[in-house]
Amino acid sequence: MTVETTRRAALFAGLGVTGAAGCATTSVAAEYAYGLAPRLTYLNTASLGPTPRSVYERTIAAWREIETNPVRQSYGGGAGALEAEGARQRAAGLFGCDGSELLITRSTTEAMNSIAAGILLERGDRVLTTNHEHHGGEMCWQYLQRKRGVEIDVLRIPLTEHDPAAILNRFDAAITRRTRVISVSHVLTTNGLRMPIAEIAALARARNTLCVVDGAQAIGQIPVDVHELGCHAYAGAGHKWLMGPKGTGFLYVSADAADRIEPMQRQDGPHYVSNSAGMGAVPLVIGLGVAIDEMRARGMSAVEQRILALRERVYRGLASIPRLEVVSPPTGPSASALVAVRLPDDVPARPFQAMLRERHNLVVKRVEDHYFNGIRLSPHIFNTEAEIDFAITTIRNELT
Ligand SMILES: Cc1ncc(COP(=O)(O)O)c(C=O)c1O
Repeated sequence: MTVETTRRAALFAGLGVTGAAGCATTSVAAEYAYGLAPRLTYLNTASLGPTPRSVYERTIAAWREIETNPVRQSYGGGAGALEAEGARQRAAGLFGCDGSELLITRSTTEAMNSIAAGILLERGDRVLTTNHEHHGGEMCWQYLQRKRGVEIDVLRIPLTEHDPAAILNRFDAAITRRTRVISVSHVLTTNGLRMPIAEIAALARARNTLCVVDGAQAIGQIPVDVHELGCHAYAGAGHKWLMGPKGTGFLYVSADAADRIEPMQRQDGPHYVSNSAGMGAVPLVIGLGVAIDEMRARGMSAVEQRILALRERVYRGLASIPRLEVVSPPTGPSASALVAVRLPDDVPARPFQAMLRERHNLVVKRVEDHYFNGIRLSPHIFNTEAEIDFAITTIRNELT
Protein backbone atom coordinates (compact mmCIF):
# COMPACT_ATOMS: atom_id res chain seq x y z
CA MET A 1 0.00 0.00 0.00
CA THR A 2 1.40 3.40 -0.93
CA VAL A 3 1.74 6.23 1.56
CA GLU A 4 -0.95 8.07 -0.33
CA THR A 5 -3.33 5.13 -0.14
CA THR A 6 -2.73 4.76 3.58
CA ARG A 7 -3.36 8.44 4.16
CA ARG A 8 -6.52 8.38 2.10
CA ALA A 9 -7.74 5.30 3.92
CA ALA A 10 -7.17 7.03 7.24
CA LEU A 11 -9.11 10.00 6.01
CA PHE A 12 -12.00 7.78 4.94
CA ALA A 13 -11.98 6.11 8.34
CA GLY A 14 -12.28 9.52 10.00
CA LEU A 15 -15.29 10.35 7.88
CA GLY A 16 -16.88 6.95 8.16
CA VAL A 17 -16.21 6.08 4.53
CA THR A 18 -15.61 2.39 4.05
CA GLY A 19 -14.92 0.16 1.10
CA ALA A 20 -16.99 -2.74 -0.12
CA ALA A 21 -15.29 -4.99 2.41
CA GLY A 22 -16.43 -2.64 5.15
CA CYS A 23 -12.89 -1.90 6.25
CA ALA A 24 -11.41 1.54 5.84
CA THR A 25 -7.90 0.69 6.91
CA THR A 26 -6.85 -2.13 4.63
CA SER A 27 -6.70 -1.56 0.90
CA VAL A 28 -9.19 1.26 0.58
CA ALA A 29 -8.19 3.91 -1.93
CA ALA A 30 -10.61 6.22 -3.70
CA GLU A 31 -10.45 3.94 -6.74
CA TYR A 32 -11.50 1.03 -4.57
CA ALA A 33 -14.15 2.70 -2.44
CA TYR A 34 -15.59 4.60 -5.37
CA GLY A 35 -14.76 2.85 -8.60
CA LEU A 36 -12.90 5.85 -10.01
CA ALA A 37 -10.42 4.89 -12.72
CA PRO A 38 -6.93 4.21 -11.33
CA ARG A 39 -4.72 7.32 -11.06
CA LEU A 40 -7.57 9.63 -12.05
CA THR A 41 -7.55 12.89 -10.08
CA TYR A 42 -11.22 13.78 -9.93
CA LEU A 43 -11.93 17.36 -8.86
CA ASN A 44 -15.38 17.82 -10.38
CA THR A 45 -18.00 16.65 -7.89
CA ALA A 46 -19.92 19.86 -8.59
CA SER A 47 -20.80 18.33 -11.97
CA LEU A 48 -21.31 14.74 -10.78
CA GLY A 49 -20.09 12.99 -7.65
CA PRO A 50 -18.62 9.49 -7.80
CA THR A 51 -20.94 6.93 -6.20
CA PRO A 52 -19.39 4.82 -3.44
CA ARG A 53 -19.42 1.08 -4.08
CA SER A 54 -21.64 0.57 -1.04
CA VAL A 55 -24.30 2.67 -2.77
CA TYR A 56 -24.19 1.16 -6.22
CA GLU A 57 -23.91 -2.39 -4.93
CA ARG A 58 -27.13 -1.89 -2.96
CA THR A 59 -28.67 -0.30 -6.07
CA ILE A 60 -27.81 -3.27 -8.24
CA ALA A 61 -28.93 -5.76 -5.59
CA ALA A 62 -32.25 -3.91 -5.25
CA TRP A 63 -32.72 -4.08 -9.02
CA ARG A 64 -32.10 -7.84 -8.95
CA GLU A 65 -34.65 -8.25 -6.15
CA ILE A 66 -37.25 -6.31 -8.14
CA GLU A 67 -36.74 -8.46 -11.20
CA THR A 68 -37.73 -11.58 -9.23
CA ASN A 69 -41.34 -10.36 -9.33
CA PRO A 70 -41.63 -6.86 -10.82
CA VAL A 71 -45.17 -5.88 -9.93
CA ARG A 72 -45.14 -7.34 -6.46
CA GLN A 73 -41.78 -5.70 -5.62
CA SER A 74 -42.34 -2.29 -7.15
CA TYR A 75 -45.94 -1.23 -6.52
CA GLY A 76 -47.82 -0.30 -3.39
CA GLY A 77 -46.79 -2.40 -0.43
CA GLY A 78 -44.01 -4.22 -2.34
CA ALA A 79 -40.63 -4.46 -0.60
CA GLY A 80 -38.87 -2.31 -3.21
CA ALA A 81 -41.50 0.42 -3.14
CA LEU A 82 -41.44 0.44 0.67
CA GLU A 83 -37.66 0.75 0.76
CA ALA A 84 -37.75 3.62 -1.76
CA GLU A 85 -40.41 5.28 0.36
CA GLY A 86 -38.15 4.91 3.41
CA ALA A 87 -35.38 6.63 1.44
CA ARG A 88 -37.73 9.51 0.66
CA GLN A 89 -38.56 9.89 4.35
CA ARG A 90 -34.87 9.92 5.29
CA ALA A 91 -34.23 12.49 2.58
CA ALA A 92 -36.82 14.70 4.26
CA GLY A 93 -34.74 14.38 7.44
CA LEU A 94 -31.68 15.57 5.51
CA PHE A 95 -33.57 18.65 4.27
CA GLY A 96 -35.10 19.39 7.68
CA CYS A 97 -38.65 19.13 6.37
CA ASP A 98 -41.68 16.93 6.77
CA GLY A 99 -42.08 13.86 4.56
CA SER A 100 -45.23 15.38 3.10
CA GLU A 101 -43.16 18.28 1.73
CA LEU A 102 -40.56 16.32 -0.24
CA LEU A 103 -40.73 14.51 -3.58
CA ILE A 104 -37.97 12.46 -5.19
CA THR A 105 -37.22 13.46 -8.78
CA ARG A 106 -34.80 12.46 -11.53
CA SER A 107 -32.68 15.63 -11.23
CA THR A 108 -32.54 19.20 -9.98
CA THR A 109 -33.67 20.34 -13.40
CA GLU A 110 -36.75 18.13 -13.31
CA ALA A 111 -37.60 19.54 -9.88
CA MET A 112 -37.21 23.12 -11.14
CA ASN A 113 -39.39 22.29 -14.16
CA SER A 114 -42.08 20.87 -11.87
CA ILE A 115 -41.96 23.90 -9.60
CA ALA A 116 -42.27 26.33 -12.51
CA ALA A 117 -45.08 24.35 -14.12
CA GLY A 118 -46.83 24.10 -10.76
CA ILE A 119 -47.08 27.89 -10.29
CA LEU A 120 -49.90 29.35 -12.32
CA LEU A 121 -48.03 32.27 -13.80
CA GLU A 122 -49.82 34.50 -16.30
CA ARG A 123 -48.77 36.90 -19.05
CA GLY A 124 -47.01 39.88 -17.48
CA ASP A 125 -46.08 38.09 -14.25
CA ARG A 126 -42.38 38.54 -13.53
CA VAL A 127 -39.66 36.16 -12.36
CA LEU A 128 -36.58 37.69 -10.79
CA THR A 129 -33.40 35.67 -11.18
CA THR A 130 -29.65 36.23 -11.63
CA ASN A 131 -27.04 35.99 -14.37
CA HIS A 132 -25.38 33.11 -12.44
CA GLU A 133 -28.10 30.50 -12.81
CA HIS A 134 -27.43 27.10 -14.36
CA HIS A 135 -29.50 26.10 -17.39
CA GLY A 136 -31.21 23.57 -15.14
CA GLY A 137 -32.56 26.37 -12.96
CA GLU A 138 -33.44 28.90 -15.64
CA MET A 139 -34.80 27.02 -18.65
CA CYS A 140 -38.11 26.39 -16.90
CA TRP A 141 -38.72 30.14 -16.65
CA GLN A 142 -37.54 30.70 -20.23
CA TYR A 143 -40.14 28.15 -21.34
CA LEU A 144 -42.88 30.08 -19.54
CA GLN A 145 -41.56 33.27 -21.09
CA ARG A 146 -41.94 31.78 -24.58
CA LYS A 147 -45.22 29.96 -24.01
CA ARG A 148 -47.11 32.17 -21.56
CA GLY A 149 -45.61 35.64 -21.84
CA VAL A 150 -44.01 35.56 -18.40
CA GLU A 151 -41.31 38.23 -18.03
CA ILE A 152 -37.84 37.48 -16.67
CA ASP A 153 -35.73 40.07 -14.85
CA VAL A 154 -32.07 39.07 -14.69
CA LEU A 155 -30.19 40.60 -11.81
CA ARG A 156 -26.58 41.11 -12.90
CA ILE A 157 -24.28 40.35 -10.00
CA PRO A 158 -20.59 40.97 -10.78
CA LEU A 159 -18.52 37.78 -10.62
CA THR A 160 -16.35 39.13 -7.84
CA GLU A 161 -19.11 40.70 -5.77
CA HIS A 162 -19.17 38.48 -2.70
CA ASP A 163 -20.82 40.72 -0.11
CA PRO A 164 -24.19 39.27 0.97
CA ALA A 165 -25.55 42.67 2.03
CA ALA A 166 -24.79 44.20 -1.36
CA ILE A 167 -26.42 41.25 -3.09
CA LEU A 168 -29.49 41.54 -0.91
CA ASN A 169 -29.78 45.24 -1.74
CA ARG A 170 -29.73 44.38 -5.42
CA PHE A 171 -32.66 41.97 -4.94
CA ASP A 172 -34.54 44.50 -2.87
CA ALA A 173 -34.19 47.14 -5.56
CA ALA A 174 -35.18 44.79 -8.39
CA ILE A 175 -38.49 43.46 -7.00
CA THR A 176 -41.48 45.01 -8.74
CA ARG A 177 -45.23 44.93 -8.14
CA ARG A 178 -45.49 42.14 -10.72
CA THR A 179 -42.65 39.96 -9.33
CA ARG A 180 -44.27 36.65 -8.49
CA VAL A 181 -41.14 34.53 -8.08
CA ILE A 182 -37.53 35.00 -7.05
CA SER A 183 -35.52 32.09 -8.45
CA VAL A 184 -31.96 31.80 -7.21
CA SER A 185 -29.24 29.23 -6.63
CA HIS A 186 -28.15 28.41 -3.09
CA VAL A 187 -24.52 27.96 -4.19
CA LEU A 188 -23.63 29.58 -7.51
CA THR A 189 -22.37 27.28 -10.24
CA THR A 190 -20.14 30.07 -11.60
CA ASN A 191 -17.96 30.98 -8.63
CA GLY A 192 -19.28 28.88 -5.72
CA LEU A 193 -20.65 31.85 -3.78
CA ARG A 194 -23.11 30.87 -1.06
CA MET A 195 -26.07 33.13 -1.54
CA PRO A 196 -27.82 34.69 1.49
CA ILE A 197 -30.90 32.52 0.96
CA ALA A 198 -32.53 33.04 4.37
CA GLU A 199 -32.39 36.82 3.84
CA ILE A 200 -33.62 36.59 0.23
CA ALA A 201 -36.48 34.32 1.34
CA ALA A 202 -37.43 36.76 4.12
CA LEU A 203 -37.40 39.58 1.59
CA ALA A 204 -39.57 37.54 -0.77
CA ARG A 205 -42.08 36.82 1.98
CA ALA A 206 -42.19 40.48 3.01
CA ARG A 207 -42.92 41.44 -0.62
CA ASN A 208 -45.49 38.68 -1.14
CA THR A 209 -43.32 36.83 -3.65
CA LEU A 210 -42.39 33.16 -3.88
CA CYS A 211 -38.76 32.20 -3.25
CA VAL A 212 -37.61 29.20 -5.30
CA VAL A 213 -34.10 27.86 -4.67
CA ASP A 214 -31.93 25.77 -6.96
CA GLY A 215 -29.91 23.83 -4.40
CA ALA A 216 -28.06 21.51 -6.81
CA GLN A 217 -24.70 22.61 -5.39
CA ALA A 218 -25.70 22.69 -1.74
CA ILE A 219 -27.35 19.49 -0.57
CA GLY A 220 -24.67 17.04 0.55
CA GLN A 221 -22.02 19.74 0.60
CA ILE A 222 -23.31 22.00 3.38
CA PRO A 223 -26.02 21.56 6.00
CA VAL A 224 -29.39 22.55 4.55
CA ASP A 225 -32.50 23.18 6.64
CA VAL A 226 -35.26 24.35 4.33
CA HIS A 227 -37.52 25.44 7.18
CA GLU A 228 -34.76 27.62 8.62
CA LEU A 229 -34.05 29.04 5.18
CA GLY A 230 -37.73 29.95 4.84
CA CYS A 231 -37.88 29.46 1.07
CA HIS A 232 -41.09 28.23 -0.57
CA ALA A 233 -39.53 25.62 -2.84
CA TYR A 234 -36.12 23.98 -3.09
CA ALA A 235 -34.68 21.71 -5.79
CA GLY A 236 -31.69 19.44 -5.20
CA ALA A 237 -29.55 16.73 -6.74
CA GLY A 238 -28.78 13.26 -5.42
CA HIS A 239 -25.96 12.68 -7.90
CA LYS A 240 -23.60 15.52 -6.98
CA TRP A 241 -22.49 16.14 -3.38
CA LEU A 242 -24.53 13.29 -1.91
CA MET A 243 -22.78 10.95 -4.35
CA GLY A 244 -26.01 9.04 -4.92
CA PRO A 245 -26.99 7.20 -8.10
CA LYS A 246 -27.05 9.27 -11.30
CA GLY A 247 -30.58 10.30 -12.11
CA THR A 248 -31.80 11.26 -8.63
CA GLY A 249 -33.00 14.57 -7.26
CA PHE A 250 -35.35 16.27 -4.80
CA LEU A 251 -38.24 18.66 -4.84
CA TYR A 252 -39.33 20.44 -1.66
CA VAL A 253 -42.45 22.58 -1.45
CA SER A 254 -43.17 24.16 1.93
CA ALA A 255 -46.51 23.28 3.47
CA ASP A 256 -47.51 26.94 3.52
CA ALA A 257 -46.95 27.26 -0.25
CA ALA A 258 -48.65 23.99 -1.20
CA ASP A 259 -51.68 25.82 -2.64
CA ARG A 260 -49.48 28.12 -4.78
CA ILE A 261 -46.93 25.57 -6.02
CA GLU A 262 -48.67 22.40 -7.17
CA PRO A 263 -46.42 19.89 -8.95
CA MET A 264 -48.60 17.61 -11.06
CA GLN A 265 -46.94 14.46 -9.80
CA ARG A 266 -48.01 15.25 -6.26
CA GLN A 267 -51.76 15.06 -6.85
CA ASP A 268 -51.77 11.58 -5.40
CA GLY A 269 -49.48 12.46 -2.49
CA PRO A 270 -45.71 12.74 -2.15
CA HIS A 271 -44.89 9.03 -2.58
CA TYR A 272 -42.22 8.09 -5.07
CA VAL A 273 -44.39 5.50 -6.79
CA SER A 274 -47.95 6.81 -7.08
CA ASN A 275 -50.86 7.19 -9.47
CA SER A 276 -49.83 10.75 -10.34
CA ALA A 277 -46.07 10.11 -10.52
CA GLY A 278 -46.20 6.65 -12.06
CA MET A 279 -43.47 4.04 -11.78
CA GLY A 280 -40.09 5.32 -10.67
CA ALA A 281 -36.47 4.18 -10.78
CA VAL A 282 -36.94 2.27 -7.54
CA PRO A 283 -33.42 0.73 -7.37
CA LEU A 284 -31.81 4.15 -7.81
CA VAL A 285 -33.86 5.62 -5.01
CA ILE A 286 -33.02 2.70 -2.76
CA GLY A 287 -29.34 3.43 -3.50
CA LEU A 288 -29.97 7.09 -2.84
CA GLY A 289 -31.23 6.11 0.61
CA VAL A 290 -27.88 4.45 1.33
CA ALA A 291 -26.01 7.56 0.14
CA ILE A 292 -28.14 9.71 2.44
CA ASP A 293 -27.58 7.37 5.40
CA GLU A 294 -23.81 7.45 4.84
CA MET A 295 -23.73 11.22 4.59
CA ARG A 296 -25.83 11.68 7.71
CA ALA A 297 -23.65 9.18 9.60
CA ARG A 298 -20.57 11.26 8.73
CA GLY A 299 -22.40 14.39 9.87
CA MET A 300 -23.02 17.26 7.49
CA SER A 301 -20.99 19.69 9.62
CA ALA A 302 -17.96 17.36 9.62
CA VAL A 303 -18.29 16.93 5.87
CA GLU A 304 -18.56 20.69 5.36
CA GLN A 305 -15.48 21.34 7.50
CA ARG A 306 -13.40 18.80 5.61
CA ILE A 307 -14.53 20.18 2.25
CA LEU A 308 -13.76 23.74 3.32
CA ALA A 309 -10.26 22.74 4.42
CA LEU A 310 -9.66 21.19 1.00
CA ARG A 311 -11.11 24.19 -0.83
CA GLU A 312 -8.85 26.52 1.12
CA ARG A 313 -5.88 24.59 -0.27
CA VAL A 314 -7.34 24.85 -3.77
CA TYR A 315 -8.04 28.56 -3.34
CA ARG A 316 -4.56 29.40 -2.03
CA GLY A 317 -2.88 27.28 -4.67
CA LEU A 318 -4.76 28.81 -7.58
CA ALA A 319 -4.35 32.34 -6.18
CA SER A 320 -0.58 31.82 -6.20
CA ILE A 321 -0.52 31.24 -9.98
CA PRO A 322 0.21 34.65 -11.57
CA ARG A 323 -1.76 34.22 -14.80
CA LEU A 324 -5.01 33.24 -13.08
CA GLU A 325 -7.71 35.40 -11.53
CA VAL A 326 -9.64 33.63 -8.78
CA VAL A 327 -13.27 34.74 -8.96
CA SER A 328 -14.54 32.74 -5.98
CA PRO A 329 -14.94 34.26 -2.52
CA PRO A 330 -12.05 33.96 -0.06
CA THR A 331 -12.48 31.53 2.80
CA GLY A 332 -15.32 32.71 5.02
CA PRO A 333 -19.09 32.42 5.29
CA SER A 334 -19.67 32.93 1.56
CA ALA A 335 -17.18 30.27 0.44
CA SER A 336 -18.00 26.75 -0.76
CA ALA A 337 -16.11 23.87 -2.34
CA LEU A 338 -16.41 25.35 -5.82
CA VAL A 339 -13.36 27.41 -6.75
CA ALA A 340 -13.28 29.00 -10.19
CA VAL A 341 -10.56 30.93 -11.98
CA ARG A 342 -10.49 33.06 -15.08
CA LEU A 343 -7.87 31.85 -17.56
CA PRO A 344 -5.75 34.26 -19.60
CA ASP A 345 -7.41 35.21 -22.92
CA ASP A 346 -4.75 33.30 -24.89
CA VAL A 347 -5.63 30.08 -23.03
CA PRO A 348 -9.14 29.00 -24.09
CA ALA A 349 -10.79 26.84 -21.44
CA ARG A 350 -12.02 24.04 -23.69
CA PRO A 351 -8.63 22.79 -24.98
CA PHE A 352 -6.99 23.55 -21.62
CA GLN A 353 -9.48 21.34 -19.78
CA ALA A 354 -9.12 18.58 -22.39
CA MET A 355 -5.33 18.74 -22.14
CA LEU A 356 -5.44 18.39 -18.33
CA ARG A 357 -7.58 15.30 -18.69
CA GLU A 358 -5.70 13.66 -21.54
CA ARG A 359 -2.13 14.48 -20.51
CA HIS A 360 -2.45 14.41 -16.71
CA ASN A 361 -5.57 12.38 -15.88
CA LEU A 362 -6.85 15.45 -14.07
CA VAL A 363 -10.57 16.16 -14.22
CA VAL A 364 -11.73 19.73 -13.70
CA LYS A 365 -14.77 21.55 -15.04
CA ARG A 366 -14.64 23.98 -17.93
CA VAL A 367 -16.81 26.95 -17.03
CA GLU A 368 -19.60 27.32 -19.59
CA ASP A 369 -18.59 29.79 -22.31
CA HIS A 370 -21.44 32.22 -21.65
CA TYR A 371 -20.14 32.91 -18.12
CA PHE A 372 -16.39 33.45 -18.68
CA ASN A 373 -13.24 31.77 -19.96
CA GLY A 374 -12.28 29.66 -16.98
CA ILE A 375 -12.10 26.38 -15.12
CA ARG A 376 -13.60 25.26 -11.81
CA LEU A 377 -12.28 22.79 -9.24
CA SER A 378 -14.58 21.23 -6.64
CA PRO A 379 -13.00 18.87 -4.08
CA HIS A 380 -15.04 16.48 -1.98
CA ILE A 381 -14.23 14.26 1.02
CA PHE A 382 -12.67 11.50 -1.10
CA ASN A 383 -10.00 13.90 -2.40
CA THR A 384 -6.66 14.31 -0.64
CA GLU A 385 -4.28 17.19 -0.09
CA ALA A 386 -1.78 15.41 -2.33
CA GLU A 387 -4.28 15.38 -5.20
CA ILE A 388 -4.90 19.09 -4.79
CA ASP A 389 -1.17 19.83 -4.73
CA PHE A 390 -0.79 17.74 -7.87
CA ALA A 391 -3.58 19.69 -9.59
CA ILE A 392 -2.11 23.05 -8.63
CA THR A 393 1.41 22.11 -9.72
CA THR A 394 0.09 20.73 -13.00
CA ILE A 395 -1.97 23.83 -13.78
CA ARG A 396 0.94 26.09 -12.81
CA ASN A 397 3.39 24.18 -15.01
CA GLU A 398 1.03 24.20 -17.97
CA LEU A 399 0.63 27.98 -17.72
CA THR A 400 4.32 28.84 -17.58
C1 LIG B 1 -26.83 25.28 -9.91
C2 LIG B 1 -27.17 24.07 -10.72
N1 LIG B 1 -28.45 23.81 -11.01
C3 LIG B 1 -28.83 22.73 -11.72
C4 LIG B 1 -27.90 21.86 -12.20
C5 LIG B 1 -28.36 20.67 -12.98
O1 LIG B 1 -28.44 19.58 -12.10
P1 LIG B 1 -29.20 18.26 -12.51
O2 LIG B 1 -28.33 17.52 -13.45
O3 LIG B 1 -29.40 17.56 -11.20
O4 LIG B 1 -30.47 18.66 -13.13
C6 LIG B 1 -26.54 22.08 -11.93
C7 LIG B 1 -25.53 21.14 -12.46
O5 LIG B 1 -24.34 21.37 -12.47
C8 LIG B 1 -26.17 23.22 -11.17
O6 LIG B 1 -24.90 23.50 -10.91
